[in-house]
Amino acid sequence: MVNDVSMSVDFAGIRLKNPLNTASGTFGSAQQFENFYDVSLLGAVTLKGASAVPWEGNPQPRMAEVFGGMLNSVGLTNPGVRGLVAESGAYLAGLASKGTAVICQVAGHSVEEYKEALVLFEELAPWASAFELNISCPNIAKGGAAMGSTPEGAFEVVNACRPLTKRPLIVKMGPVRVQEIARSCVDAGANALSLINTISAMSIDINTHKSRVARPTAGFSGPAIHPIAVRMAWEVCNAVDVPVCGIGGITCGADAAEFLLVGCKAVSIGTENFVDPAAAVRILEELKDWARSQGVSDINELIGAFEC
Ligand SMILES: Cc1cc2nc3c(=O)[nH]c(=O)nc-3n(C[C@H](O)[C@H](O)[C@H](O)COP(=O)(O)O)c2cc1C
Repeated sequence: MVNDVSMSVDFAGIRLKNPLNTASGTFGSAQQFENFYDVSLLGAVTLKGASAVPWEGNPQPRMAEVFGGMLNSVGLTNPGVRGLVAESGAYLAGLASKGTAVICQVAGHSVEEYKEALVLFEELAPWASAFELNISCPNIAKGGAAMGSTPEGAFEVVNACRPLTKRPLIVKMGPVRVQEIARSCVDAGANALSLINTISAMSIDINTHKSRVARPTAGFSGPAIHPIAVRMAWEVCNAVDVPVCGIGGITCGADAAEFLLVGCKAVSIGTENFVDPAAAVRILEELKDWARSQGVSDINELIGAFEC
């Protein structure tokens, strides 16, 4: 009988029962996944980005499969913070009471809109453990990556939102200028960082000469981006002292383990949730098996153990 490994980690002052989190936009409001497994087995869930008022998102089609992953141009369709809380608040309060951290993601087209959404969450979501600012969505014309792709833009949003909550603020970063932007977010008061969001990409139907989604460009996610994401997470872990959640192309425990080895305190499962709806809980078990095989009694012994 193998001794069980302690999987608990501290993430910006939040005690997670394990490092497994879900990537925003790929896990709905978590409730939908109860059909597949007990979601409270996860350390955390991150919800789809929500704005102060409902957003329709981009025209269809907005998803396409490509080699090594998928493209999406969803554009942050969401029912607004009030709609999200009305639909899922009771469920999420229950999930939080079982010790799974609920992270609400905040979206906006402008600094003012981020502030409005955060103020609403602060008031309506007492069960949220933390708020994540999405300053990296590549599929909206204003806000998202348009604001978070420079250190100055990132600073402005985080600095404006910081006084509005005492709960931890996580910043979801895109795959650009990661060390500079990470430092800027921390200078503005971010308690943690998560990366990467999707990579802006294109796929063209050679018969119709049109994009395979309704917009020319879309966000690329899935296994092909994993090595890029690990490199960027490593760079950010080396640049700042706040905890980092590694995201990008995780399909199995080994992929998650790479993020932990480069210093991430948590990992989020994204596109793999569409391939295998039970992915996050499977990957949790695979990560435990790996930790046992490494002969440790606590997963924290492996965080940052990368040697170079
Ligand atoms: C359909 C879809 C919707 C997404 N929506 C969001 C979102 O609302 N907010 C966000 O920060 N990231 C969003 N993402 C990006 C993911 O959270 C994640 O950062 C990215 O997909 C990389 O991880 P993966 O390769 O494991 O999917 C979305 C991704 C997909 C595929």
